[in-house]
Amino acid sequence: MLYIGVDLGTSAVKLLLMEGDGRIQKIVSKEYPLYFPNPGWSEQSPEDWYTQTMEGLKELLSDCDRSQVAGISFGGQMHGLVILDGDDQVIRPAILWNDGRTSKECDYLNNVIGREKLSAYTANIAFAGFTAPKLLWVKANEPENFARIEKIMLPKDYLAYRLSGVHCTDVSDASGMLLFDVKNRCWSQEMLDICGVRKEQMAQIFESYEVVGTVLPEIAAELDIPSDVKVIAGAGDNAAAAVGTGTVGEGQCNISLGTSGTIFISSENFGVDKFNALHAFAHADGHYHLMGCMLSAASCNKWWMDEIIGTKDYAAEQAKIYDSENPEDTGKLGENHVYYLPYLMGERSPHNNPNARATFIGMTMDTTRADMTQAVLEGVAFALRDSLEVAKSLGLNIERTKICGGGAKSQLWKVIIANVLNLKVDLIESEEGPGLGGAILAAVGCGEYASVEEAASKLVHVVGTIEPDPALVAKYEARYAQFKQIYPTCKPLFDIIG
Ligand code: XUL
Repeated sequence: MLYIGVDLGTSAVKLLLMEGDGRIQKIVSKEYPLYFPNPGWSEQSPEDWYTQTMEGLKELLSDCDRSQVAGISFGGQMHGLVILDGDDQVIRPAILWNDGRTSKECDYLNNVIGREKLSAYTANIAFAGFTAPKLLWVKANEPENFARIEKIMLPKDYLAYRLSGVHCTDVSDASGMLLFDVKNRCWSQEMLDICGVRKEQMAQIFESYEVVGTVLPEIAAELDIPSDVKVIAGAGDNAAAAVGTGTVGEGQCNISLGTSGTIFISSENFGVDKFNALHAFAHADGHYHLMGCMLSAASCNKWWMDEIIGTKDYAAEQAKIYDSENPEDTGKLGENHVYYLPYLMGERSPHNNPNARATFIGMTMDTTRADMTQAVLEGVAFALRDSLEVAKSLGLNIERTKICGGGAKSQLWKVIIANVLNLKVDLIESEEGPGLGGAILAAVGCGEYASVEEAASKLVHVVGTIEPDPALVAKYEARYAQFKQIYPTCKPLFDIIG
């Protein structure tokens, strides 16, 4: 049988066709625009997601035996607010995970309602990108839109709704709304009351691997697939990526270098970060996870390459820093005097500060373009380490990680990550985290595998490991000690320059 994984990303939707034994037949990607209507705001059109997904599905299925398609599922960008009216029309553009407009609402939630209450109700506190503060923002700033809301949903759930007609969500994605009681895997009535929304406006909750329904007859006809193709709930992109890299069960770690950068630690048991820096969410394998999320990761490198130095040849720029054919020569790794704070969209974990901004510091007349490029890659790694340090302070012992996402295609970046975080980096056959995870969830939902853990252990294979080099780890240790001091020093300035 064939399974489709849809990775609804921030720059594009990536669709993946997987055979039951895990072989990937085809991958298709379709882009759509991202809008920044005000500084720090980030929006997309749900209609764009749908049309590009349908286009992508047609291309994906164009040369396979469509009668074999059994299920479709998703990994989707998390936290985005999608609101529909009584006629199922989208009321306003979706407000995305990296949108920073809700400082006021977060202050209200964290300081007036209070962190303790939020944490007791949902296992988390308010961060600007989460969904509940966005609902409060719409209520305060667009009351006429708020009054029209009939359905509240997350980005991938909009696709599931258009494909199946079922208003559904899954536990991992729902966790990022700050409306969900993560421990008990149900909506938090307290949080719904605080945000002034009714349970009927919220989606039906499923485990990520559960079937929500079948494709609508008109969808089956348009795609020329059987009418009983199952739609499986799917997961937030990080939980889906974790499934796609085999990060399931107890104490496994995955790093995703996409538009955002995340460090994801799976756990069989529910646990909350007492510092509230890491998110405590439900996992797609039926258990839980902790996660640190930085808002700009591979997007920092893309911005630096595309917008600032003006090249598309990322590999050529990185070849000036490190020759992967000659890994013994680590060049200037660990010796860069330039530092980069990667806060192009403010920062979530661990600083929780929408006003934070990206910064270069430490340049001298002999600083080269390569030093600056290296600083960007290192700055992202140092910022991931900030979240790893929080996890370590909670007593978690992490020695190795998987890695996925666009940035993981760079050998140099993986070497930097292994040494800055002092982790063994396990390389897997496919870096297509969320898309593959979505297809695996579809296969589990269709009964091809008994559980997510069984599917991941059979389908995901480690093909190599990057070991940290003790000499380089020591150099980066000293650099990280300096990096750590830059944000607190700059913070008062970020508040002024906004
Ligand atoms: C996770 C988060 C991001 C988005 C990116 O909390 O906000 O990783 O899911 O798509």
